[in-house]
Amino acid sequence: MATKFSAPSHGTEEINDADPLLVAEDIIKIYKTGKIETQALRGVSFKVKPQEKLFLIGPSGSGKTTLVNIVSGITKPTSGKVFWKELSKDITRSTYEEIVKARRTFAGVIFQDSKLLSHLTVKENIELAGYYAKVQPKVVKQRAQFLLKFLGIWDKRMKREDTLSGGEKKRAAIATTLITNPKILIGDEPTGDLDVETAESILDLFDRINEELGIAICIVTHSQQVAARADRILELRDGVIIGQHGSNISLRKLEDSRLLEIDRQSRIVLPKTILQDMDNPKHFSIEMENGKIILQPIYQADFAPNNMKSVITCTMCGNQVKNGVKFCSDCGAPITDKGDNNGLNK
Ligand SMILES: Nc1ncnc2c1ncn2[C@@H]1O[C@H](COP(=O)(O)OP(=O)(O)OP(=O)(O)O)[C@@H](O)[C@H]1O
Ligand SMILES: [Mg+2]
Repeated sequence: MATKFSAPSHGTEEINDADPLLVAEDIIKIYKTGKIETQALRGVSFKVKPQEKLFLIGPSGSGKTTLVNIVSGITKPTSGKVFWKELSKDITRSTYEEIVKARRTFAGVIFQDSKLLSHLTVKENIELAGYYAKVQPKVVKQRAQFLLKFLGIWDKRMKREDTLSGGEKKRAAIATTLITNPKILIGDEPTGDLDVETAESILDLFDRINEELGIAICIVTHSQQVAARADRILELRDGVIIGQHGSNISLRKLEDSRLLEIDRQSRIVLPKTILQDMDNPKHFSIEMENGKIILQPIYQADFAPNNMKSVITCTMCGNQVKNGVKFCSDCGAPITDKGDNNGLNK
């Protein structure tokens, strides 16, 4: 049953997308270890549309794992909300039991180190995941059969984990998450431990799961190979989403495909590479010109207090004039860039 909830519309996402599958709103996560606090996420908002293939990228430590753990209901954020289409309330305020129950039919979660139970066969592992999720036994049998064939491991169904290749283990692990017929597959670098060729075959599978089974995909990746298959890519840096990319992405040249994201607090994070190229200015003046925003760097040396003021005082007549005007609107005295009257009053 589709549950309606109010979806935030923000950033570069389409405003009319009224019925997303998953919504994360203003997520903040602060880890506390003794006296040390790490702000892993600093206000992240995004949504996943039904059947969308969304990937998350960003440097190590940018908060990707923290974010997928929060949207999968594994970790609670310090603040913020997460909505699943399956549940009519914010999952961060739901009980453990409510989350586990809703996740059974909502999300399959797969990690780099997803493991099978070593004493059971592939088929038994998949079926056990179904029984554990309280899927009817008849449905479990039928669906396990279908998944073994769909994922190309029918021949391996009687084998145990230690006799499987890396790719086969991954396929079996994916099958255990799909047995409940979820709406979304969430993964944290699920192909990170595989060689390029095996990873490619698993990625083909994700495409088929998305296209043929209609399951949305939300995956963290460091890999160019993976990223190029996305509908949409969100770029995280230092705990905020700084931009979006399409599948024309080059992970080595993110600036070529990046659309900067304006978050719900109207913040834009300027890319570090651009700031470095500009010699790391600490301040910018901002102007609108023909529908464009122009940011002018102000370096510490130029940073006289008048640059900050939007209004300055005409030293000839005391009139308050807008910073940047050439003449005082009251007495007509010339006003220089420094906000004085060019020494006329001395
Ligand atoms: N359990 C924890 N306790 C304290 N700090 C943590 C914990 N987990 C993560 N962090 C910190 O939070 C920040 C974000 O970590 P996270 O694992 O989400 O990053 P990531 O983007 O997944 O990195 P990687 O690409 O290396 O996997 C890092 O500074 C990390 O050290
Ligand atoms: Mg991680």
